[in-house]
Amino acid sequence: MGLRKNPNNMSQKIFIKTFGCQMNEYDSNRIFDSVKKIGYEKTKKYEEANCYLLNTCHIRDKAKEKVYSEIGRVKKIFRSKKKPLVIITGCVAQAENQEMLKREPYIDLVIGPQAYHKINDTILSYTKKKKKIEETEFDAISKFKYLSKIKNEAGKVSSFLTIQEGCDKFCHFCVVPYTRGPEYSRPFEQILDEAKYLADNGAKEIVLLGQNVNAYDNEGHRLSDLILNIEKLPEIKRIRYTTSHPKDMTEDLIEVYKTSKKLMPLVHLPVQSGSNKILKSMNRKHTIEEYLNTFDKLKQINARIEFSSDFIIGYPGEENQDFKDTFSLIEKIKFINSYSFIFSPRPGTVAENLELIEKKISIERLEKIQTILLENQVRMNKSLEGKVIDILVENLTEDKSKAFGRSEYMTSVIFNGKKSDIGKIVQVRIKDSNRNTLFGEVITNSNQKVA
Ligand code: SAM
Ligand code: SF4
Ligand code: F3S
Repeated sequence: MGLRKNPNNMSQKIFIKTFGCQMNEYDSNRIFDSVKKIGYEKTKKYEEANCYLLNTCHIRDKAKEKVYSEIGRVKKIFRSKKKPLVIITGCVAQAENQEMLKREPYIDLVIGPQAYHKINDTILSYTKKKKKIEETEFDAISKFKYLSKIKNEAGKVSSFLTIQEGCDKFCHFCVVPYTRGPEYSRPFEQILDEAKYLADNGAKEIVLLGQNVNAYDNEGHRLSDLILNIEKLPEIKRIRYTTSHPKDMTEDLIEVYKTSKKLMPLVHLPVQSGSNKILKSMNRKHTIEEYLNTFDKLKQINARIEFSSDFIIGYPGEENQDFKDTFSLIEKIKFINSYSFIFSPRPGTVAENLELIEKKISIERLEKIQTILLENQVRMNKSLEGKVIDILVENLTEDKSKAFGRSEYMTSVIFNGKKSDIGKIVQVRIKDSNRNTLFGEVITNSNQKVA
């Protein structure tokens, strides 16, 4: 399906812009892997494109408006040029579907996240008939079957690999179950094949992705099985997974932290709120005590494990005591690298019409939360000054004078590395730090083989 050449094509160029989460980034790469088969090359210049693809996110307020204003910008750029083919994909495409074609005639194709396997045929059909198309049915099985036949050519030191998609949890604030459809776990062997392909093509780190990545279950194979199998690939040095749900932190996954040699000690486990009352009204399906229990178990296995999280501040019904509970949880767990946002009512969700708390209060609370989260981050970074840590080298800085890599905790590190260090784990002595970055000097000879 869709592997024919585009008959009209001489030199077709596609510009892809991506909003949203890592899964959208992964999808954008896979979409490109697909459209390459019908003759598209990637361009980083708007003006050069004859196809403009916007991969959208619907998670918070103004997501939709952001898309239309982006299209407005594209219209201006192409005012005196031939109009490009305009394709909207991602979660806004899924949520808005036909509406987008009606509201903005500049848009030609609307393709939802579970219909990417149809993208080549959709483009070819449009090129022939000039009839606008909307493809938003849920068909995850066909999508991954198709994409697994098309090589994943991201070729990055750190590569994403989607293992699970969709969500059945229906947290009351969240659009994802509506935009990504029901929970689907890709076949185990299909994932291992893709991991092997990525490893053969230069990946040293694999980040397993899913909206509920730890709910992965394919004929009894769980996320823990995937981790233990992927780590058998000698080229792969590091494994991460995101985003997980506290309810799915099962014993087998916790146990993997005892046995795995390559699973990184940063656990991104969104908690949203520190108050059981709010968790209940969010339909999060777990309590703070259960969350702390998982934290304690992991810390007992390895005291170096750190947590990061997502927080929603000012959820309807959040009283001062609920906010204080969130604050105390942050003081206790000392999360690093966390995300926090004010609640944003989303269309079609249970919380859409709940009474909002006063905006001024939400803003004040968010500021307090962000201050303490930042303090944790800065303290963590400062504590590494003078220490020697392992860095996976990803590339050179823009001016090529230094190397860029990441610590085990995903923190960016800039140091005096060389091009030949890319893809290696080197030991770097940290000399300085700021809120987001560590700075250091390499102490190992980069030719030295690091296990
Ligand atoms: N599946 C993950 C989980 O259960 O924690 C989260 C995935 S969601 C794509 C990423 C984050 O967006 C959530 O953890 C939540 O903090 C935030 N989010 C989702 N809906 C939101 C809303 N309506 N308002 C504010 N933040 C929201
Ligand atoms: Fe959204 Fe909740 Fe599903 Fe996460 S678990 S994707 S927050 S509905
Ligand atoms: Fe956004 Fe969809 Fe990801 S709403 S966060 S792009 S799953």
